[in-house]
Amino acid sequence: MLFSLAILLFVCPTVAATTELQAQCTGYDRLYNGTSCYVVVAPTKTQHSAKLSCNHYLGYSGHLVHIKSAGVQAAVKQAMTNYPNTTIPNIWTGSELINSSAAFPDSNNWGHYYRDGTFVTPTYLPWNAGQPITSVTYKRVMYTKSTDKISNSAESIVYPYVCEYEEALKQPVTDLEQKCVALASSLIPLFVNGVCYALHTIYSNYNDAKKLCNDIGGYDGHLAHIRTMSELWIAEALRAVSYSNYLRVGIEQTNLSSTDPNNGWYLTTPKNQSLPTTFLPWAASNPAAGSRTIGVTAGYPKSFATIANTAAYPFLCQY
Ligand SMILES: *[C@@H]1O[C@H](CO)[C@@H](O)[C@H](O)[C@H]1NC(C)=O
Ligand SMILES: *[C@@H]1O[C@H](CO)[C@@H](O)[C@H](O)[C@H]1NC(C)=O
Ligand SMILES: *[C@@H]1O[C@H](CO)[C@@H](O)[C@H](O)[C@H]1NC(C)=O
Ligand SMILES: *[C@@H]1O[C@H](CO)[C@@H](O)[C@H](O)[C@H]1NC(C)=O
Ligand SMILES: *[C@@H]1O[C@H](CO)[C@@H](O)[C@H](O)[C@H]1NC(C)=O
Repeated sequence: MLFSLAILLFVCPTVAATTELQAQCTGYDRLYNGTSCYVVVAPTKTQHSAKLSCNHYLGYSGHLVHIKSAGVQAAVKQAMTNYPNTTIPNIWTGSELINSSAAFPDSNNWGHYYRDGTFVTPTYLPWNAGQPITSVTYKRVMYTKSTDKISNSAESIVYPYVCEYEEALKQPVTDLEQKCVALASSLIPLFVNGVCYALHTIYSNYNDAKKLCNDIGGYDGHLAHIRTMSELWIAEALRAVSYSNYLRVGIEQTNLSSTDPNNGWYLTTPKNQSLPTTFLPWAASNPAAGSRTIGVTAGYPKSFATIANTAAYPFLCQY
C-alpha cells in the first residue's frame, strides 16, 4: 500500500508533465513553455504569408504567437536567442489592429488572432516608446528582441516569425487536413476548422475557375463561400499572398438581366443548387451593376468588389 503510493507519487508528476506536443517540441528552433510550443522561423515573410505558414504540427490550429503575458514574452525572447543559424532581431506576432477607423492606441483595438480570424483582446501590450504609430498601413504587431518590446508595422514588410501551437486547440488530425497541407507543393493551402482552402494563383475567368476546384480526390470542391467576418479574414490573407487586386470567390448574381447590384447574390457550387447570401461587405465604390461575380479586394473589412465574369483573376477553392 505504502509502496504503491510511493510509486504513484513518483510516476504521476512525470506522466502529467509530458504531453504529445511537448515530446515533439524539440530542436534548435523551438521551445515548449507553459502549455504551448513556440517555433522560430528565420526566412522572412510578410505577415499574411507568415500566418498561413504555421503548419509544423497538424491538429493544433497553429497561429502566429500571442504575446499575452510577460512569461510568453520571455519564452519568445529565449527561443529567438537560442536560434543558432542567424540573428533574429524581430519577429511577426499574431496581433492585428481590429478596426482601422478606430483609435490605434486604444488597447481594445488590438486582437491576438487565431487562424480562423477570431481573436481575443489583450490585457498585456508591452509597446515600445512612441508605439503604436497611427498610420493606416501599420496594422500588425512585431516584437523586437533588443528592446524586448512590441511595435506596430506594415503587413507587407518581411520579418522572421514565431508560430505557436497550443495544447488547448488540439484536435484529431483528419485525412482532409493532411491532404490540404500536402497541396503546398503546387497551391497555397490553409486548413481551418475542418475546411481546406486552396489558393490558385493562376489567373482564370469565372466559368473556368468554377470547374477547377478539384484539387483533392474524393472531396467535392467549390469556389469559396464567404459568409462571415471570420471567412472574410481568411480570404483577405489569401488574397494578399496572391499579390492580385482581386481574388475570385464563389458568389454570383444569377439573374443575368438584373440591374440591381445590391441584391440577388448567390453562393454557388458546380453541382448543387445556389444559396442566397446577404453577407455583402462592399468595398468603396462598389457594387456596380452588370458585373455578376465577386472578388475580394484590399480594404478589409470592406472587401467585396463586383468583377466581370470574363475577367481573369486568381481564385480561392474550398473543400
Ligand atoms: C518559460 O520560459 C521562461 C524564459 O525562459 C522561464 O523563465 C520560465 O520558467 C518558463 N516557464 C515555464 C512554465 O516553463
Ligand atoms: C541551423 O543550426 C542547426 C543546429 O546547429 C542545424 O541542425 C541546422 O541544420 C541549421 N539549419 C540551417 C538551415 O542551416
Ligand atoms: C470602427 O470604428 C469606428 C470609429 O470608432 C466605428 O464608427 C465603427 O463602427 C467601428 N467598426 C466596427 C466594425 O466595429
Ligand atoms: C452538394 O450537396 C451535398 C449535400 O449537402 C453535399 O454532400 C455535396 O458535397 C455537395 N456538392 C458540392 C459539389 O458542393
Ligand atoms: C431579373 O432582373 C430583372 C431586372 O432587375 C427583373 O425585372 C426580373 O424580375 C428579375 N428576374 C428574376 C427571376 O428575379
